[in-house]
Amino acid sequence: MNVLRFSDLVAAGKVAGQRVFIRADLNVPQDDAGRITEDTRIRASVPCVKLALDAGAAVMVTSHLGRPTEGEFKPEDSLAPVAARLGELLGREVKLVANWVDGVQVAPGQVVMLENCRLNKGEKKNNEELAKKMAALCDIFVHDAFGTAHRAEASTYGIAQFAKVACAGPLLAAEIDAISKALANPKRPLVAIVAGSKVSTKLTILQSLAKNVDQLIVGGGIANTFMLAAGLAVGKSLVEKDLLEDAKAVIAAMKARGAAVPIPVDVVVAKEFKADATATVKAATEVADDDLILDIGPKTAAQLADMLKAAGTIVWNGPVGVFEFDSFAKGTEAIARAIAASSAFSIAGGGDTLAAIAKYGIEKQVGYISTGGGAFLEVLEGKTLPAFEILARRAQA
Ligand code: 3PG
Repeated sequence: MNVLRFSDLVAAGKVAGQRVFIRADLNVPQDDAGRITEDTRIRASVPCVKLALDAGAAVMVTSHLGRPTEGEFKPEDSLAPVAARLGELLGREVKLVANWVDGVQVAPGQVVMLENCRLNKGEKKNNEELAKKMAALCDIFVHDAFGTAHRAEASTYGIAQFAKVACAGPLLAAEIDAISKALANPKRPLVAIVAGSKVSTKLTILQSLAKNVDQLIVGGGIANTFMLAAGLAVGKSLVEKDLLEDAKAVIAAMKARGAAVPIPVDVVVAKEFKADATATVKAATEVADDDLILDIGPKTAAQLADMLKAAGTIVWNGPVGVFEFDSFAKGTEAIARAIAASSAFSIAGGGDTLAAIAKYGIEKQVGYISTGGGAFLEVLEGKTLPAFEILARRAQA
């Protein structure tokens, strides 16, 4: 995608002394005491801030945190813990500035964090007046918030319309590059794993990928609906009968292209949804009325692992079983290990997928781990995200 890149502006010497406004996604999980429990997004945002500082810019960085009520400050909505963590990572103090819309004091070589941008009235609805005020704070607007790239808000979209210069930061650019490599121009075979509890939440993703991928591996509750569509019994497993026709249509669309949706040949079942429930491996044709399918079986796992090892590109979203329970985690572990062992370029995204990657310690063997949750899913749906649309438009102007 043709967007202006911040790194190119830096390389061209156009950033020294400029006021740079970075929209990052620093929306990290916190415990009840406000302590950050997982800081991947903060670490992923450091390169952009460093790039700007090293280039001699006056740097403002902001993000949303949660979904606060606009205009109503509550201490738990503050970016204070995030500013402190960013300061640790940068090795310098990051001052937090409240009420910043009408002006921010920051000198070249300094960095300040602007308090939770969703506290500003008009942020969510992309209010034009607010966006213009934010744009007036800077010479260069840098969108580096891939996790929020599917939102058109004042600090992600409106500001990009009105800022003198609008460009993509290194994290946003890396995400575009990885996604393009995986979906726009993939080395084949292209294998996608789409798993999760419900077809309904991922139907558009399945329909979109069915036009592009060579193998569409389904898992979790989604696989149950596909098994039923393929004429197999699924007992009392989670299933969406009203989506059977849609599942059949996805299977047919894949078949028409000479591609396939591999249906499990064996499964791991239990009588109850419990961590210590007895796990039994069964052929997919032998699921009883009172069985709950909680994982793929070893034969299916081995087949899928072979497919993944032979793939040119892998897109992974969702664990294929209840991997939080050890007795039903083997399928997801086999998938994770096969991705790690594969020479394919792999891209993974989504909260549960990241948890599985961490559980099996394969972070270094995955080609690219996306910082996007909803944004990653919308890309898989084939949508052009607002962030990319506006930055591409600005690059043409
Ligand atoms: C996320 O956590 O997925 C992003 O930060 C976006 O958050 P939102 O869904 O509240 O816009």
